[in-house]
Amino acid sequence: MEVVILPDAAQIGTVAADAVEALLARKPAAVLGLATGSSPLAIYDELVARCDAGRISFRHARGFTLDEYVGLPAEHPERYRTVIDTVFVSRVDFAPGTVAGPDGLAEDIPAACAEYEAAIAATGGIDLQILGIGTDGHIGFNEPGSSLASRTRIKTLTRQTRIDNARFFGDDVDLVPTHCLTQGLGTIMAARHVVLVALGRSKAEAVHQLVEGPVSAMWPATILQHHPHVTVLLDGGAARRLQLADYYRETYLSKPSWQGI
Ligand code: F6R
Repeated sequence: MEVVILPDAAQIGTVAADAVEALLARKPAAVLGLATGSSPLAIYDELVARCDAGRISFRHARGFTLDEYVGLPAEHPERYRTVIDTVFVSRVDFAPGTVAGPDGLAEDIPAACAEYEAAIAATGGIDLQILGIGTDGHIGFNEPGSSLASRTRIKTLTRQTRIDNARFFGDDVDLVPTHCLTQGLGTIMAARHVVLVALGRSKAEAVHQLVEGPVSAMWPATILQHHPHVTVLLDGGAARRLQLADYYRETYLSKPSWQGI
């Protein structure tokens, strides 16, 4: 696990976009895993800027979102399929229909989850997965107690996650759905490269557990310690509880110039 501590979200966006640009250069038909939420927004803005400048193109690429609320009507602005379209997909040149998400309105939810897993597998798997992290250590919506081997399925959101996400629902926690569909921890672990972004002090404990804590279903993100290629991009607030922060900073500064993340 590589830990990179940077001054702000914009610089995190640049470093993550460099990795996506390098991936698209060697594999134009790359498969991207796309998180919603606030953490990846600077990455998406940077990718949009590079696409506008003609540096990168997504026209052969595919995308899969991580998760979706159950039961939000198709026209609801906080439906994750709508959100990812607004903040990223519609702003670049993905071909129509090449970005998919779990179907939170499916009548047969287990079947929809199995189909989603099959759709990811049919592309050859996710090359680069962009992740945020919840204050309770969730990735995707794999809340504490999730099976470390889980696959896409329905989950109940914790009260903490619903409180954290109430800001997207007019600060009314009762408007935040109680259930979601999410890629499982096993699904996320199958991605070839995981780039996790955390911003701000509210994420400091979850980040400390992720990087330096014991692997435990109580902090689901800790399963990433078993992944061979994880990059954790942090601002100073999110890094403030790390015991080895100075070491991570020195390591990043002394990296060979040819070595990306
Ligand atoms: C979103 C997702 C969640 C968020 C996490 C952090 O698709 O899967 O795990 O990444 O809740 O959310 P933000 O970035 O809004 O703090």
